[in-house]
Amino acid sequence: MRPDSIDATLESLRAQGYVAPRALGTVVFLALRLGRPLFLEGEPGTGKTELAKALAGLLDRPLIRLQCYEGLDLAAAAYEWNYARQMVEIKLAQGQESREELARELFSRRFLIARPLLQAIDPPDGRAPVLLIDELDRADEPFEAFLLELLSDFQLSIPELGVIRAAEPPLVLLTSNRTREVHDAVKRRCLYHWLDFPDAARELEILRLRLPGIESALAQEIVAVVQALRGMDLYKLPGLAETLEWSRALLELNALVLDPATLSSTLGVLLKYQDDIARLQGSEAAQLLARVRAETHGG
Ligand SMILES: Nc1ncnc2c1ncn2[C@@H]1O[C@H](COP(=O)(O)OP(=O)(O)OP(=O)(O)O)[C@@H](O)[C@H]1O
Ligand SMILES: [Mg+2]
Repeated sequence: MRPDSIDATLESLRAQGYVAPRALGTVVFLALRLGRPLFLEGEPGTGKTELAKALAGLLDRPLIRLQCYEGLDLAAAAYEWNYARQMVEIKLAQGQESREELARELFSRRFLIARPLLQAIDPPDGRAPVLLIDELDRADEPFEAFLLELLSDFQLSIPELGVIRAAEPPLVLLTSNRTREVHDAVKRRCLYHWLDFPDAARELEILRLRLPGIESALAQEIVAVVQALRGMDLYKLPGLAETLEWSRALLELNALVLDPATLSSTLGVLLKYQDDIARLQGSEAAQLLARVRAETHGG
């Protein structure tokens, strides 16, 4: 189940529909071998979140996902005491137990609500999951300090209860879109990889893998257009997600090849800022297509 070489890692990822460059295959292989968390940064829509899904499929483990956001705290990320249940227990126990006994009982595992991080180190079915801590840069900085214990020792200290340690460590993936720098102390505990936009060959491979029915000529033109757009000075460059979405849109419209009118009318699938779209509409679209065509058909 766990790949025994870099090539096997790349192959198993591909079997999950994920085409990884060799450098990424190498860090994934090492993360699995060394049991280290994997920290992924990169452009939007380049396969950071998707890698966690592919790895869960590859390892046949459940995926536990923690989406980070501003204000994310321990109660939402790790655990929370079940106050309502504790209240009921206090009522029921009235007069029957000593105070110490009751207090001990109230702060036992039974009254703890497990959120993603606790679920990951203490899974109910005992199967170590893949834990995705997605978009860590969106969480507040103090939250990162809290992750350090989990990332280095795969354990959580709960003041009232003690330390809960993973019987089998989960595979942890962290992602960031780099809206701010994540603290060095977090990165030091992880293997790091920067996910760039794919080159044309890999993008074409992904497109064919994900949309097997697509005409070869159309696929090549799509990739060439997206690659050309990424070379332009746009406010927001299209990622792989946009390439796939655009391809699906073109298939819906029964486009066999790209013409300027089709490109203009579907730009909203690729570009999400009006300034970028306005730039590309009209003569720019025609010029771009002419250039792309000259390239893909060898002039
Ligand atoms: N290497 C890949 N192989 C196959 N498909 C991919 C690959 N990378 C990305 N995709 C496709 O592109 C889509 C977008 O990828 P994903 O959501 O993982 O991007 P992301 O890097 O997490 O983006 P964001 O930073 O916006 O969250 C996925 O749904 C998947 O279909
Ligand atoms: Mg993502």
